[in-house]
Amino acid sequence: MRFLALFFVALSATPLSTAHNIVLPRDASAETYAAIALARALPNSPSGGYAPAPVNCPSTRPTIRSASSLSQNETAWLEVRRNKTVAPMISWLNRMNISGFDATSYINGISNNATALPNIGIAISGGGYRALMNGAGFLAAADNRTSNSTNKGQIGGLLQATTYLAGLSGGGWLVGSLYSNNFTTVEALRDGSSTSSIWQFQNSIFEGPDKGGIQILSTAEYFDTINNEVDAKNNAGFNTTITDYWGRALSYQLINDTNGGPAYTFSSIALADNFINGETPFPVLVADERSPNTVIVALNSTVYEFNPFEMGSWDPTTYAFAPTRYLGSNFSAGVLPDNETCIAGFDQAGFVMGTSSTLFNQFLLQINSTGLPSFLTTIFTNILTDIGEANDDIADYDPNPFYQFNNATNRNANTKQLTLVDGGEDGQNVPLYPLIQPYRGVDVIFAIDSSADTTFFWPNGTSLVATYERSLNATIENGTAFPSIPDQNTFINLGLNSRPTMFGCDPTNMTALGPIVVYIPNAPYITQSNVSTFDPAYNTTQRNAIIENGYDVATMGNGTIDADWPTCMACAVISRSLYKTNTTVPAACTTCFSKYCWNGDLNSTTPSGNYSPNYLLTELNIRSGASSFGISGSGLTLALLAALILA
Ligand SMILES: *[C@@H]1O[C@H](CO)[C@@H](O)[C@H](O)[C@H]1NC(C)=O
Ligand SMILES: *[C@@H]1O[C@H](CO)[C@@H](O)[C@H](O)[C@H]1NC(C)=O
Ligand SMILES: *[C@@H]1O[C@H](CO)[C@@H](O)[C@H](O)[C@H]1NC(C)=O
Ligand SMILES: *[C@@H]1O[C@H](CO)[C@@H](O)[C@H](O)[C@H]1NC(C)=O
Ligand SMILES: *[C@@H]1O[C@H](CO)[C@@H](O)[C@H](O)[C@H]1NC(C)=O
Ligand SMILES: *[C@@H]1O[C@H](CO)[C@@H](O)[C@H](O)[C@H]1NC(C)=O
Ligand SMILES: *[C@@H]1O[C@H](CO)[C@@H](O)[C@H](O)[C@H]1NC(C)=O
Ligand SMILES: *[C@@H]1O[C@H](CO)[C@@H](O)[C@H](O)[C@H]1NC(C)=O
Ligand SMILES: *[C@@H]1O[C@H](CO)[C@@H](O)[C@H](O)[C@H]1NC(C)=O
Ligand SMILES: *[C@@H]1O[C@H](CO)[C@@H](O)[C@H](O)[C@H]1NC(C)=O
Ligand SMILES: *[C@@H]1O[C@H](CO)[C@@H](O)[C@H](O)[C@H]1NC(C)=O
Ligand SMILES: *[C@@H]1O[C@H](CO)[C@@H](O)[C@H](O)[C@H]1NC(C)=O
Repeated sequence: MRFLALFFVALSATPLSTAHNIVLPRDASAETYAAIALARALPNSPSGGYAPAPVNCPSTRPTIRSASSLSQNETAWLEVRRNKTVAPMISWLNRMNISGFDATSYINGISNNATALPNIGIAISGGGYRALMNGAGFLAAADNRTSNSTNKGQIGGLLQATTYLAGLSGGGWLVGSLYSNNFTTVEALRDGSSTSSIWQFQNSIFEGPDKGGIQILSTAEYFDTINNEVDAKNNAGFNTTITDYWGRALSYQLINDTNGGPAYTFSSIALADNFINGETPFPVLVADERSPNTVIVALNSTVYEFNPFEMGSWDPTTYAFAPTRYLGSNFSAGVLPDNETCIAGFDQAGFVMGTSSTLFNQFLLQINSTGLPSFLTTIFTNILTDIGEANDDIADYDPNPFYQFNNATNRNANTKQLTLVDGGEDGQNVPLYPLIQPYRGVDVIFAIDSSADTTFFWPNGTSLVATYERSLNATIENGTAFPSIPDQNTFINLGLNSRPTMFGCDPTNMTALGPIVVYIPNAPYITQSNVSTFDPAYNTTQRNAIIENGYDVATMGNGTIDADWPTCMACAVISRSLYKTNTTVPAACTTCFSKYCWNGDLNSTTPSGNYSPNYLLTELNIRSGASSFGISGSGLTLALLAALILA
């Protein structure tokens, strides 16, 4: 019996139900799903619920491929999307108003050349709800559908010109939530609707929503529902772990459908009209491999990505991709043997979001800095240690799609289990990984960092340092090019983490032409947006304040800190393109680069005192900004109750 199963049972007033009236349509072909596509991610799991189930294999049986190129699907999709970014890019660059630069004629002149056309990526870091909310502020600012976002001093439309949108952990909740809800807007998710529990963070996942779609759920019914769903997966023959419960619980807040949409799959994003038509960026979530019976995830661990077409790794270890839709199928040596059936529904959207955010062992490792009273620390330490020893604090991808594939390098070639954890556990908390792969040719990455690197939960560049170090490790970097990044003390001493900073501005300084990285760190504009990663509940006022603060982080306070900031973002976007086409850099951009680019200076002395930035604008008047670990929240009370029952 697993901890969370006990946890849910303990809180559940009703006994575990054993009957699952699940119909298994064995005949659900991709064509059928395409025919019923409703322009949104689909509840297309063949079981009709959370459990994976057998389906007829397509005429060409699914296989594992080597990571030696982009997938055909992604390549074909890019032709559609990149063309769709041309008009928004022209419109956006014109509004960003680079003096002396004719954006219309420049972009039109290169619109048929995918190498020269700016290729934009956005990466939303992990950091629990803090990262979701701060990241949401950035995406709201970048989205031209947000009210007033195309006014002067605003940056709306950047998202429409973007090719890739990566998320990890809390950032993955944001990205997954947008795509599971028809690529709706942050405003719509924030404002919700009367029958929906979407983004209702005031009720923690330990408590459950007031409204579960159309029906009202009590906490007991909520736990019972989740328990039944995970049981169904288990009964269908798949190993489940704490991550399954976690993903189910999170889904009530992230997927706007009854019971958090147990049948939604991640691969169904590829069947949504707006995705097919290239009207959205390409979503990617990131997770790390944690070898069985280990706790620490080293920087040389294999990193995995999930996109709507494929799941796998570019690293020279696994170096392979599996079709996302057929995860759960029993692949062996790269093929699905004739006697094995195709499985679908394993890539359940909440499970994928949960996989990217499985940070239970991080909570354990950091428990002494959570500010919990010591009696709670002891209780949680005991529980989480037990889970860890049972190796239950991971996401179990069993059967391992890469079993007996790339035997010589694949660290998991001989195990049927692939165990994944939170994508930030290797220290790379900003999901740059999918965006620095040479095949993708990304020119500029907006790196939204909501990491809690410092004592007071602000970022200090640790994530960029990690990605930089990994890019220097010859055994794992595999051709990724990444700009030089200074140490964390320099970040603080030079203020590189208190305002946006660009890295890799001078392409002649890089051995291979990698992207320019626009680092956008969480900072206090109007509220203390440095809430704890482990805070499970936020009232509406605080949620909205942190989203608004994130909007200010993106726009530097709607241009009040620097009216030229939108222009400078545009300069970063065209920088690599100008270099490739040998075009003179406009003077306005030279000014921007001297202002925002890290110039190579170092100051590595240890800063005195804890990093504690002042408000950049006037504090918004809400009762309490930074909150503690939600000691007052009823969510924690319930968690504590469960812990006490189990201890
Ligand atoms: C999805 O969003 C598009 C607008 O982008 C809208 O036209 C369509 O009706 C929406 N589909 C669903 C199922 O809500
Ligand atoms: C990916 O491309 C293959 C053909 O190369 C096609 O059979 C498959 O349906 C595509 N997958 C999706 C999700 O579009
Ligand atoms: C946002 O950009 C898209 C793509 O360019 C465009 O079709 C749409 O009209 C824009 N919407 C708003 C509200 O400006
Ligand atoms: C735009 O579409 C055309 C025709 O499919 C293709 O040749 C071209 O490469 C595309 N442009 C980009 C930038 O992908
Ligand atoms: C948009 O701008 C108008 C005019 O300045 C203002 O009245 C309105 O409140 C703004 N809307 C939002 C959502 O900020
Ligand atoms: C949630 O889904 C319901 C039913 O489909 C819809 O009416 C509502 O607008 C959605 N809410 C949001 C915030 O998308
Ligand atoms: C579940 O995982 C265990 C190892 O933890 C393994 O022994 C067992 O075979 C797995 N079960 C299935 C159905 O994969
Ligand atoms: C990963 O790096 C650690 C040192 O940080 C080293 O001990 C270990 O051997 C490396 N693992 C692999 C598989 O290269
Ligand atoms: C398929 O055949 C292999 C090798 O004989 C065997 O190990 C495996 O259990 C079989 N799978 C099924 C589903 O019978
Ligand atoms: C937390 O503190 C306790 C008591 O000082 C100690 O035993 C434990 O090892 C610490 N845990 C971690 C992860 O450092
Ligand atoms: C990998 O090793 C296994 C067993 O050692 C073997 O059966 C399999 O064919 C190998 N795979 C490849 C692609 O060589
Ligand atoms: C596309 O642009 C690149 C960079 O400027 C250039 O090297 C290449 O020749 C161009 N390709 C075509 C077909 O014009």
